Amino acid sequence: MELTTATLEQHWLPFSSNRDFKREPRLFVRASGMYYWSQHGDQILDGSSGLFTTPAGHCRPEIAKAVGEQLQTLDFTPSFMRGHPGGFQLANAVAGLTPEGLNHVFFCNSGSEAIDTAMKIAFAYHLARKEAQRTYLVSRERAYHGVNMGGTALSGMVKNREAFGAIMPGVLHLRHTLLPENRMTRGMGASGAELADDLLRFVQLVGEKRIAAVFVEPIAGSTGVIVPPKGYLERIREICDRYGILLVFDEVICGFGRTGEAFAASSFGVTPDIITMAKALTNGAQPMGAVAVRDDIYRTIIEEAPNGVTEFFHGYTYSAHPAACAAGLATLKIYETEQLFAKGRALTPYFQDAMFALQDMGVVHDVRGFGLLAGIEVKPGKAPGVRGADLQAKLFDRGLHVKFTGDVAIIAPAFIAGKVEIDQITAILRDAFAEF
Ligand SMILES: Cc1ncc(COP(=O)(O)O)c(C=O)c1O
Repeated sequence: MELTTATLEQHWLPFSSNRDFKREPRLFVRASGMYYWSQHGDQILDGSSGLFTTPAGHCRPEIAKAVGEQLQTLDFTPSFMRGHPGGFQLANAVAGLTPEGLNHVFFCNSGSEAIDTAMKIAFAYHLARKEAQRTYLVSRERAYHGVNMGGTALSGMVKNREAFGAIMPGVLHLRHTLLPENRMTRGMGASGAELADDLLRFVQLVGEKRIAAVFVEPIAGSTGVIVPPKGYLERIREICDRYGILLVFDEVICGFGRTGEAFAASSFGVTPDIITMAKALTNGAQPMGAVAVRDDIYRTIIEEAPNGVTEFFHGYTYSAHPAACAAGLATLKIYETEQLFAKGRALTPYFQDAMFALQDMGVVHDVRGFGLLAGIEVKPGKAPGVRGADLQAKLFDRGLHVKFTGDVAIIAPAFIAGKVEIDQITAILRDAFAEF
């Protein structure tokens, strides 16, 4: 199909300036390893693992083969009161990576669905424990928890909520932890643990047994890489324990090795009650999300229901879709056989050195990073986000794909990257930054 104004019109792109895109479309037509190819045949280095989805590199034949074989053997299984072996195998494999005690896995199709599922699990759990009065949820300013209605209510990013923010009352927002004192800090900042005490104030505000759950991205990713200050997550955990509040870590970006361990919960040594995940679960090759819960949360919801009835009234037609499970199993096998989390961990110091070296560029306002994830915030242009959009286009034209949020470039190389690719990413960033 020829790409003309008419043929581009029908597809309404998500989270995009449709008019800008359609005026000057930047399409990918092929991918392999750490590279994309544009419709003009240009090779584009992938600096953000797709959308943090693809740490094992693009177009892995093992995953394609597994999905292809699955689709020719069993393409679909009704997900309610039916199952297929892949769903159980994948749940087992995921439970092998989650922190101890979080061994029950509910499948869905995206990070957004994982968040809404986790919200419902939290409410169902408290209802089963005869604490249905726990109707408040707590999130944070600058949080991103996807775009379904629940996730939108949790959102802490104004553009994502201003048209829809009133949809769900009863969500309280902790202050964010992006503090000027921690500017240019590598890893966890020294300041800000006390911001966790906002949760205590909410308990004092709404009552000791009114909050169902707190949702936290261990590293807030989409908002521009906000690494938690030292002691902050521990303090949130401690307040949750004291008041019977469930702690949910949204690991849609952090999960599957991005922070050096399978989950950021392990990297930071704080175990939540529920973990949401998606993206790298299938290396981005199939849409899939999942929610891992503490064993007693599962058991409470299951055992409190009368025998012979559905215990949890929630699920998707495509929960544990056979093709997605095949992709997930093949992906987790690659992570294990190639020791990709350890490989990512080994590359981290080199990567972080390279990112923090960019602070000498005049346009750079802040650099933040942990594991194979870094945010480089540039000084704003005419209005917030304008320079970021301009930079993103300039980088693409120089052969680098990077995800931007506003004026923050979010760099997240695949774990198969070597020093050569990190050097390439850094050189292109430096070259583009020099134009400002
Ligand atoms: C922390 C977090 N939660 C949820 C989501 C939503 O995931 P999805 O876009 O797959 O719905 C994202 C997406 O980037 C995310 O970063």
